[in-house]
Amino acid sequence: MPVSIHHLADWRARGEKFVMVTAYDALIARVLDESGVPILLVGDSVSNVLLGHATTLQVTMDDMLHHARAVARGAKDALLVGDLPFGSYQTPEDAVRNATEFLRIGMHCVKLEGAGPAVEAVAALTDRGIPVMGHLGLTPQFVNAIGGYKVQGRGDAGEKLLEDAKALQDAGIFALVLECVPSALGDRVTRELEIPTIGIGAGPHTDGQVLVCWDMLGLTPGPSPRFVKRYADLASDIRDAVQLFAKEVSEGIYPAPEHAYK
Ligand code: KIV
Repeated sequence: MPVSIHHLADWRARGEKFVMVTAYDALIARVLDESGVPILLVGDSVSNVLLGHATTLQVTMDDMLHHARAVARGAKDALLVGDLPFGSYQTPEDAVRNATEFLRIGMHCVKLEGAGPAVEAVAALTDRGIPVMGHLGLTPQFVNAIGGYKVQGRGDAGEKLLEDAKALQDAGIFALVLECVPSALGDRVTRELEIPTIGIGAGPHTDGQVLVCWDMLGLTPGPSPRFVKRYADLASDIRDAVQLFAKEVSEGIYPAPEHAYK
């Protein structure tokens, strides 16, 4: 059954935890959708995870639409979230124009980072029937202002984050991603909001959890943030497989008769 934004509220009301996973292409979207992942995020993390950029700031709206189109072709039932990239929602008008493009090509809703000026953009989008997911805490599009990828919301900053979360909720977001905040803050925001929260490095108390697909599958190189759990080790599986392929070719084992045509 196709997942809508209303399912998230139902899951929260019933205390059912749920997951969201990033997807950037049709093939993975299909596998994730068939595995029952209810929410696929076409994240701007495609920039650094898949396209080789240093941060999420380099990815453009055109890049995002290219990946979102592919995900929309691959997924059947999942709720599809298009991540508005850096610079694409500077004004409410920009936000509406770019989010409209996402919905036109098959996304069901959009996500944006931060509060402050973004609150007005959220109101403009929700007024026009474009559901919005918020994102607070470590917001990677603000990396230059934050000065690195660090835990957010400690001490007084936690009060400010809660205030921002409430402002976004009042403006109409249907769910909120909380990234890299202390577990106690993840718990407090979840209890004080009426909408579902989705954590990534925000502890066990949020309504849902999100991970970047390639991180959880063990394909991203280098050390991972503390919150990433690797559920597979695809990088070493791929290395083993291609080395075996090369070895079998050099030893004349592959192709065998069953791989050849008569
Ligand atoms: O782009 C992304 O992958 C994200 C998740 C980390 C929530 O925003």
